[in-house]
Amino acid sequence: MKLNKLTGAIIATSALMLGAHTALAAEVEVLHWWTSGGEAKSVVELKKMMEAKGDSWKDFAVSGGGGENAMTVLKSRVVAGNPPTAAQIKGPSIQEWGAEGVLADLSSTAAAGKWDSLLPPVVSKVMKYKGNYVAVPVNVHRVNWMWVNPEVFKKAGAKVPTTWAEFPAAADKLQKAGFIAIAHGGQPWQDFTIFETVVLGTGGPEFFQKALVELDPGALNSATMEKSFNNFRMLRKYVDKDFSGRDWNLATQMVIQGKAGVQFMGDWAKGEFTAAGKKPGVDYLCVDAPGTKGDYTFNIDSFVMFKQSSPDAAKGQEDLANAIMSPQFQEVFNLNKGSIPARLDVSMAKFDDCAKKSNADFVASSKGGSLLPSIAHGMAVPAASAGAIQDVVTQFFNSEMTTKMAIEKLAAAAKMK
Ligand code: GAL
Repeated sequence: MKLNKLTGAIIATSALMLGAHTALAAEVEVLHWWTSGGEAKSVVELKKMMEAKGDSWKDFAVSGGGGENAMTVLKSRVVAGNPPTAAQIKGPSIQEWGAEGVLADLSSTAAAGKWDSLLPPVVSKVMKYKGNYVAVPVNVHRVNWMWVNPEVFKKAGAKVPTTWAEFPAAADKLQKAGFIAIAHGGQPWQDFTIFETVVLGTGGPEFFQKALVELDPGALNSATMEKSFNNFRMLRKYVDKDFSGRDWNLATQMVIQGKAGVQFMGDWAKGEFTAAGKKPGVDYLCVDAPGTKGDYTFNIDSFVMFKQSSPDAAKGQEDLANAIMSPQFQEVFNLNKGSIPARLDVSMAKFDDCAKKSNADFVASSKGGSLLPSIAHGMAVPAASAGAIQDVVTQFFNSEMTTKMAIEKLAAAAKMK
């Protein structure tokens, strides 16, 4: 990401000008992309908490799952010298924004709140730029789930698959019984979400780490990657004809309503099941995606604050950071969102079995070396490489591109900086 060099100066000047006109109550303008049913219910909790602190919330929601649209809008606001108070930014992108010199330093708030002792290192590391906190984590999402409608499986006489090799037999049965096997939304980030899960389930955690985190040329150009692409292509025949462009939450609805058997999606999908009043273990099942038992691809949502020079804005940012880190917020937000708290000390008592499993797998996988950053959700590599790889994955899924060609393109894309 390259912003105009003048950006910092423009921001400082416009912030001063804004400061001269700011009213007493701190207004926080917060950019996010949480617009689906479950997401909107979650973000409203943050708004309520800020209002209880006497701050006013200016919602800056940019719809579009995965946040691509939101990031485009954010860049233009920052380049224009008018950044929001806070924005949902995550993973290595935090470093890229940090390098632009536009992020507020949250060190003193973090030190006062003892964030270092409350967050697992895998989380706190992502939140820091050059050793200082510049971001606040709201949650930990797990990506490698398969969401199952058990009634649909029962009606079709199909067994829930635990490996990719078992998948076609189950999916054929679902289709023969008149169901859509896989509820999918054909948007590049959703294709990429399935792809990384397939790579993990095909090659295992070490392979995932080498190929999709380290972008190791040998792993990218390997028989295992070829097998991964073949498994990915196998899934193509199990999506319905209307899948192109569909939003992820509409795909989740297809599972909720018993039209489809499974969806491969991170546990923000659980937010939709919860919002629809559905119970895990009864109305739906959350199971490890085939071949990924106990492995964990993580996706941590977080907010950064942009430098502002008015004291009111700084107060609002401190309130927001403290609200996000509070145990009350971490509990209620994540109950709605489908994720688990980023803080280690929040009780899991009110959480359902899927969240408890996520929590247990998070801890176990971090010890066993299979806790991995999601490339599809901006956790693993810089945005430029992730975007280029995503393009290859989507083109492959939507064309007759050969596996050999896909692997060649993948190697070239991985070199994008
Ligand atoms: C992810 C984000 C999740 C969820 C999802 C769909 O990138 O981390 O919180 O919102 O996109 O929009």
